[in-house]
Amino acid sequence: MIVQTIGVVGCGQMGAGIAEVSLLAGYDVIIYGRNEDIRPACRGRIQQSLQRAVSRGKLEAHEAEAALARLRGVAYLAELAAAELVIECVAEDLALKQSVFRSLDDILRPAAILASNTSSLSISEIALATRRPDKVLGMHFFNPVPVMRLLELVRGLHTSDETLAIARKVGAYLGKTTITAPDSPGFIVNRLLIPYIVEAVGAYEAGLAEAAVVDNAVKLGMGHPLGPLALADLIGLDVTLAIADTLYQSSGDPYFKAPPLLRRMVAVGQLGRKTGQGFFEYRR
Ligand code: CAA
Repeated sequence: MIVQTIGVVGCGQMGAGIAEVSLLAGYDVIIYGRNEDIRPACRGRIQQSLQRAVSRGKLEAHEAEAALARLRGVAYLAELAAAELVIECVAEDLALKQSVFRSLDDILRPAAILASNTSSLSISEIALATRRPDKVLGMHFFNPVPVMRLLELVRGLHTSDETLAIARKVGAYLGKTTITAPDSPGFIVNRLLIPYIVEAVGAYEAGLAEAAVVDNAVKLGMGHPLGPLALADLIGLDVTLAIADTLYQSSGDPYFKAPPLLRRMVAVGQLGRKTGQGFFEYRR
């Protein structure tokens, strides 16, 4: 099967980023946003990012225009019917993802592939909502999608070799290096990343050092572009907490257990960059 049209479900920062790289790779993209406010904001976000690439001399203005012309925002999942590959990017909630997959299974042609950008949920369990578990896999992108070069492909218990091969090919067209991970808690990257962030938040909460000191130690001592607390702010503290909770529940491993401070910050709406306040403050 040849993929020409990619469907994206969800217009958050991951959905918009995946749509943008897909457009730049020459795919037609249909993006579904669940409400009137989000759809124009999503197009605006993609447009702004393309314009930024133009002003930095990385992209010609006509290329940005051509990319945007291939983008269609839709209000009904049924309008994704033309897509050969759909990448779901809704919130980290198994029931929600399964309901999206159930609907897409009815709408899409039988050969179409269904991917989830989940960071932590089981691909095999998401696939249970469909009659095509062999055509379901994880395509886990990293934030910011246009910059991060990795694409983690997650093989569920029923994912076929053919499905993986097609996803690998699409990943290469998107300019990403793909790795294949098993459907185990955290796959490869978050199995390593989440305990690291959890430990940093716990250490900060325990008074080890100021947030800036914790982050600078990692940046200057280990050469990371961001420290763990700024990285949690970038991912979103709500998303970080949801991943940690899912991984803790599915593995029972205390390394994934979220510190109380992370839960409190999420409860009061301090979600990181997107709200302007997390471990650090951001101008919005
Ligand atoms: N879109 C396109 N390009 C972007 C961009 C965006 N949203 N953000 C930054 N860039 C580009 C800039 O244009 C710039 O490119 P040039 O140097 O060629 O001009 C380059 O990236 C660096 O950007 P900046 O100078 O503005 O900022 P920076 O040096 O602080 O880098 C960063 C920003 C690339 C995000 C860097 O901080 C970084 O690499 N951070 C780590 C991010 C990371 O670890 N992400 C993974 C999170 S985990 C995840 O997503 C998965 C999960 O399941 C939790």
